[in-house]
Amino acid sequence: MPMFIGAEKLSHTYMPGGPFATEALHDISFRIEKGEIVLIIGPSGSGKSTLIQHLNGLLMPTSGQVIFEDRPIGKDRKDLLLLRRRIGLVFQMPEEQFFSETVFDEVAFAPRNLGLDDETVRERVYAALKRVGLVAGQYINRHPFHLSSGQKRLVAIAAVLSLQPEVLILDEPTAGLDPSGRRSLFKLLAAFNRKEDLTVIVSTHHLEEVASLADRVLVLQEGRLVINGSADEVFSRRDELRRLGLALPEVTEIMYDLVAEGLAVNTAVYSLKEARRELNRLIRRENR
Ligand SMILES: Nc1ncnc2c1ncn2[C@@H]1O[C@H](COP(=O)(O)OP(=O)(O)OP(=O)(O)O)[C@@H](O)[C@H]1O
Ligand SMILES: [Mg+2]
Repeated sequence: MPMFIGAEKLSHTYMPGGPFATEALHDISFRIEKGEIVLIIGPSGSGKSTLIQHLNGLLMPTSGQVIFEDRPIGKDRKDLLLLRRRIGLVFQMPEEQFFSETVFDEVAFAPRNLGLDDETVRERVYAALKRVGLVAGQYINRHPFHLSSGQKRLVAIAAVLSLQPEVLILDEPTAGLDPSGRRSLFKLLAAFNRKEDLTVIVSTHHLEEVASLADRVLVLQEGRLVINGSADEVFSRRDELRRLGLALPEVTEIMYDLVAEGLAVNTAVYSLKEARRELNRLIRRENR
């Protein structure tokens, strides 16, 4: 079967051989299909960022391999440059790496690096800002540091979208955002996926809202892939997740409490909207 993105027996050790050798990933295998939304979850230090950096060739396996479109990702410089255009990566806290004086320059950096002409760069910048819901004209001349944290995050995402990738990987994109910022960011990712057929891979601590969008969830623990399944499969393993210190969305926990009280509700509920629907259904049934 053709493989879009995946890993085969991937292991990664930082500073191998020395006294500080750390095995951050151990014997990880999985496959991701084109067009999926995939969540990578796991406690702090479990290897999420390390795994993500392998998926666009920023880190190379110590053993095993990472596959993109049936081919192992190798070290060839030209291949890697092309790969990083097709697989865009938004780092953890990306705004800490802003280095331009204006939003325009920040978003224009990558397309300029491709050697595109000024007019095309401009088109790319406007299109990328539009895709993240920012009206380009209002933002291009502003200093990126003077934006709100939510706006900064959107600019960082636009900076990666300006390469027009087919896969978008985001490492903890909601870190430091408030609940409404998180909701709108996840909505945006869902729209990229649905309307633009972008494959989206996202690591997160915030399962609320995003869990119901996921086609697949990968759970890491101490560098090992301990669970790999659909959102419903993974989130039904509540005790295991708890032992890993991973909390289910609060609304899901409430559904479990209701079941414990003897009410027949569905526990595969991960967002407020779904919970509201499920509770309304319950109330209608009780009133019959
Ligand atoms: N550059 C590095 N050099 C050495 N060890 C590292 C490096 N980066 C990460 N590690 C180690 O590798 C392991 C996995 O780290 P990683 O950053 O991938 O975890 P994470 O799941 O992304 O954590 P968090 O949720 O805190 O972002 C940890 O033990 C960490 O200390
Ligand atoms: Mg991390």
